[in-house]
Amino acid sequence: MPDFAQKLVLWQRRHGRHGLPWQGTRDPYRIWLSEVMLQQTQVAAVIPYYERFLARFPDFVALAGASEDEVLRLWSGLGYYARGRNLLRAAREVAKAGRFPDSYEEIHALPGVGPSTAAAIAAFAFGRRAAILDGNAKRVFARRFGVEGDKAQWALAQKLLPARAIETYTQALMDLGATVCTRTRPACERCPVAKDCVARREGRIDELPAARKRKPLPLKHATWLVLLYKGSVLLERRPGSGIWGGLWGFPGGPEKGVRDFCEKNLSCTVAKTRRMPVIEHGFTHFRLNIQPIRCNVGKILPPAEAPGRIWMDVEDAAHAAIPAPVRTLLLGLA
Ligand code: ADE
Repeated sequence: MPDFAQKLVLWQRRHGRHGLPWQGTRDPYRIWLSEVMLQQTQVAAVIPYYERFLARFPDFVALAGASEDEVLRLWSGLGYYARGRNLLRAAREVAKAGRFPDSYEEIHALPGVGPSTAAAIAAFAFGRRAAILDGNAKRVFARRFGVEGDKAQWALAQKLLPARAIETYTQALMDLGATVCTRTRPACERCPVAKDCVARREGRIDELPAARKRKPLPLKHATWLVLLYKGSVLLERRPGSGIWGGLWGFPGGPEKGVRDFCEKNLSCTVAKTRRMPVIEHGFTHFRLNIQPIRCNVGKILPPAEAPGRIWMDVEDAAHAAIPAPVRTLLLGLA
C-alpha cells in the first residue's frame, strides 16, 4: 500500500469517526442518502435530517412512491433543494431498475450524483476502488503534497488509492480533513502525515489551499407579502426550477400599491400593511435582501385559492416544504 494510504488507514482505525449513523452498513440506500445530504453540508446539520428521512422512507421503493412535496418537506431547512428533487428522480430510476447500480460509472449516472459522491458510494457500499475529491480531500492534498487545481488533484487522488481497505481510506480522507486538517488552525500535532507535509515544511499552512478570488456576490431584492387572515397565511408554490424550486413561500409583490396588487392577483382585500424587518439571505451565487410586508386581510374574494396557492394555518405552514427564511418568518408571527 502506498505510504500515504497506509498512514491514513492506520490513523482512521484509531482516531477517525466510527459512530456516524450511516456507518456500519453496506446498504446502498443509506449510504447514497447520507452522501447526498452531506454535499455542501456539515455532519452535525445532516444527522437529524438523515434520521427523519430514513424513518419516513426506509428504502428505495418507499421513496420512489413519495410525492415531491413530501420529500421537500423533509428536506426543508437543509438547503440546496435540487438535491431533494434529484433524490426522488434517482429513487424512481432505481426502483424501476429493481436494483441499485454497483459500478462507479452507473452510480455516477444517477441524478444528483457527481464524481466524488459516486466514488464515496461505490467505496462504502461496494468496496470499489474509486477516488473521492470533496472539500476535505482537496484541502488535505493541497497541504500534504502542495498540489492544487482540479486536474492535478484528481490525478493525485487516483494515484494514491490503496489496493485494499478502500472504505477505511476514503473515510480517513474525510475524517482527517474534517477533524485535523481543518481550514483554520489545523491540529498538525495529531496528523499522521505531518512529517511529510509540504505546507508544514514550507510554512505555507495558511496559504494552502490558496483562497479563491471571490468577486463580491450580486445583491438582489425581493418583496414578500405575508397575508394573514384568522390565523391562516397565504402560500404559493414556487416554480419547479430556480431558487427554492417546488417549495412553498409567500407570494412576491410590489413594495408600493400592495392593496391593488392583492385584489387583482391574490383574491383578497387588505385592511392594513406593515413593513417587517429585512431578511438577508446568502446563496452560492448571489445575496438576497427580502422585504416582508405584513398584510392584514379584510376579505377573501372568490376564487380564494388557485392551483399552487393555498391558505394554510400558520402552524401547519411552518411544517410544510418551505425554505428556512420562510420558516423563521412564520415562527416570528405567533
Ligand atoms: N462527508 C461526506 N461524506 C461523509 C461521510 N461518509 N462521513 C463523514 N463526512 C462526510
